[in-house]
Amino acid sequence: MKATITATARYLPNKILTNSDLEKMVDTSDEWIRTRTGVHERRIVAEGEATSHMAIHVGKKLLKRSNTLASEINIIIIATVTPDMLFPSAAALVQKGLDATNAWGFDLSGACTGFLYALETGSKFIESGTYNKVMVIGVDTMSTITDYQDRNTCVLFGDGAGGILLEPAKNNEGIIDSILRIDGKGAPYLHMPGGGSQHPPSEDTVKKRMHYVKQDGKRVFKFAVKGMADISAEILHKNGIVGKDIKIFIPHQANKRIIDATAKRCKIPEERVLINIDRYGNTTAATIPIGLDEVNERGDLVENDIILLAAFGAGFTWGSTLIRWGDI
Ligand code: ACO
Repeated sequence: MKATITATARYLPNKILTNSDLEKMVDTSDEWIRTRTGVHERRIVAEGEATSHMAIHVGKKLLKRSNTLASEINIIIIATVTPDMLFPSAAALVQKGLDATNAWGFDLSGACTGFLYALETGSKFIESGTYNKVMVIGVDTMSTITDYQDRNTCVLFGDGAGGILLEPAKNNEGIIDSILRIDGKGAPYLHMPGGGSQHPPSEDTVKKRMHYVKQDGKRVFKFAVKGMADISAEILHKNGIVGKDIKIFIPHQANKRIIDATAKRCKIPEERVLINIDRYGNTTAATIPIGLDEVNERGDLVENDIILLAAFGAGFTWGSTLIRWGDI
């Protein structure tokens, strides 16, 4: 039995942080940001708005769009690196917000690949026949761990959430295949060093700005281009699919140049590549489900369309997923 997507949803906060706003905060320029990253603006949560709040917006839309009662949800999986707090999980807070009285759930930390990890995990619960309604949400409040004094990182990130409902497929539609990887040798190049058990919060960690994202951008870029392109080419080859068979390629939105390199390698025409990095920046675990909802909302997808998803992020983590769209 295959797992298939029966609803999509997204939530973006109202507040917009433009490149010209950032010009007033750090030594940067709109032109540099646009040409090096593809980002024009990003969304930022309102005061007091946290990860679970964005996820609850998405969860409510998923229930409505799929005509599902909250009590019917079996599992809530939240992919995030920015939960409201270390514990309880964001999934617990989302369960309460939705009043999903029969659900269990958990958070999953896969950084920018988090949604693909969660999608694969959720699919297995359906494929095993154990459950039939799994909610998978990718959500990150990156503005809370972004150092707005560091021009190397602050231009990249934004806040947002996206999600899907997974149910058993009736026919041949659903998740076709998924290839996922992790390599901890990448850990020093993209991480948030403070606040965990290695460097618990202290005056010193705050003073050293250890509660923010740190990265070696050039190195991450190099690994991301190769990682995302290789794994996308691998999944296409493994499944006997070529670039022109892909109706839409929805890549993680980290940098327009990383996306272009992957599309080129897989010979996917430019017009079939979903780009929203210009409007939202990098929302980490949320980029792919936000993109999926945009494509679905446009009505671009019909039954049997093949969708390719791909991501690369901290860990390093990376992966690629192929989906055959159903009649939703
Ligand atoms: N504004 C102006 N100048 C800047 C800025 C900025 N915001 N940031 C860096 N620069 C400067 C650098 O200091 C450097 O100056 P120097 O030559 O005097 O030292 C110059 O611009 C060029 O810097 P590079 O690092 O060579 O620029 P590059 O073309 O590699 O782009 C970037 C940098 C955008 C960070 C790129 O490396 C990148 O996107 N890396 C991937 C990082 C990423 O996406 N991380 C997010 C999570 S991981 C993921 O989602 C895949």
